[in-house]
Amino acid sequence: MKTYKIPFNKPCFCGNELRYIAQAIEYGQVSGDGFFSRKCHTLLEQILGVSRVLLTTSCTHALEMAALLLDIQPEDEVIVPSFTFVSTINAFVLRGARPIFIDIRPDTLNLDETQLERLITPRTKAIVLVHYAGVGCEMEAILEIAERHDVAIVEDNAHGLFGKYKDKYLGTFGCLATQSFHETKNLICGEGGALLINDPQYIERAEIIREKGTNRSRFFRGQVDKYTWIDLGSSYLPSDILAAFLYAQLEARAQIQAKRRRIWEYYYKHLQDWAKDRDVRLPIVPAHCEQPYHMFYMLLPSLEQRQALIAHLKAHGILSVFHYLPLHLSEMGRQFGGKEGDCPVTEDVSDLLLRLPFYNELTEADQEYVIKAICNFEGE
Ligand SMILES: Cc1ncc(COP(=O)(O)O)c(C=O)c1O
Repeated sequence: MKTYKIPFNKPCFCGNELRYIAQAIEYGQVSGDGFFSRKCHTLLEQILGVSRVLLTTSCTHALEMAALLLDIQPEDEVIVPSFTFVSTINAFVLRGARPIFIDIRPDTLNLDETQLERLITPRTKAIVLVHYAGVGCEMEAILEIAERHDVAIVEDNAHGLFGKYKDKYLGTFGCLATQSFHETKNLICGEGGALLINDPQYIERAEIIREKGTNRSRFFRGQVDKYTWIDLGSSYLPSDILAAFLYAQLEARAQIQAKRRRIWEYYYKHLQDWAKDRDVRLPIVPAHCEQPYHMFYMLLPSLEQRQALIAHLKAHGILSVFHYLPLHLSEMGRQFGGKEGDCPVTEDVSDLLLRLPFYNELTEADQEYVIKAICNFEGE
């Protein structure tokens, strides 16, 4: 594997991870829902103000739980942006749902809410949206449409922990929302995620689904004297060792977010003029959105220029990467009828987008080096 002077991502540690893992081991419960899992749940519930948080083994698994909770049945339709990670929709397709791909807005790269209404049919069960780069979707318009048609909203908030839309945390708008703590995210535990439950009617069943379809959580709370199989489910709860790691990161959230903000603003400030001269589009964050500084992307004028810049940076030991390929044009997407031209903005953006190295320990000197290399780029 090639090593880079500046990699795209580096998992960063805050200091207390190993100490808390040792504590979890000392406490004698390293399976799920131990001391540190409970601390993570309570902290996230308090900060975000959601009814219930349940740590999961990944964001993918939290999405699978959402599909089970919404009782998705074969032939139900689920509206999803084509410009997202496969798990956003795969979790629902696993239950038999038919994906209905929606295009994105050219500014925030979020689901284009003006196209929602024409895609809703009597079979539409849910809209699964993504706050791309942690910049909020147009939630007011989306909620109004969803309520009018009685369609559930699930927020795939993998990028957006601590981001806000009109002063309200992302992940608190849909009946359910999901988080990722994969090592590429702002706060990490290696592999991990969380289900945020905003509608309390889902809490009890979520606990059951997460515990293999049993009422083991009620048993541990002393509410039943034995536990048994009562619903569908799987094993979606992470070890308390991972929760201990995550709790250290959650405690350090202010420092992590401050570092990421500095990095994002430095890129923006020092690339602005270059971008203007080269017809390169930098990220757009509407005034009513507070972003959590998850990533820094640019849209190049053409696919050729994007590929040439990736190669140019690679030659300087810098790893920059593209992002999602349109899901409607993937092998699976085409099986559901996806074809060229269905989501033109997604198709364009997918060819043009490039993400720059972004991790908590990226220094100003590292960024200086990246920016210099970009400014020396002669193009194709
Ligand atoms: C929008 C989105 N949703 C879901 C996921 C999957 O997250 P996880 O790896 O925690 O399952 C990703 C992965 O990066 C993502 O970008």
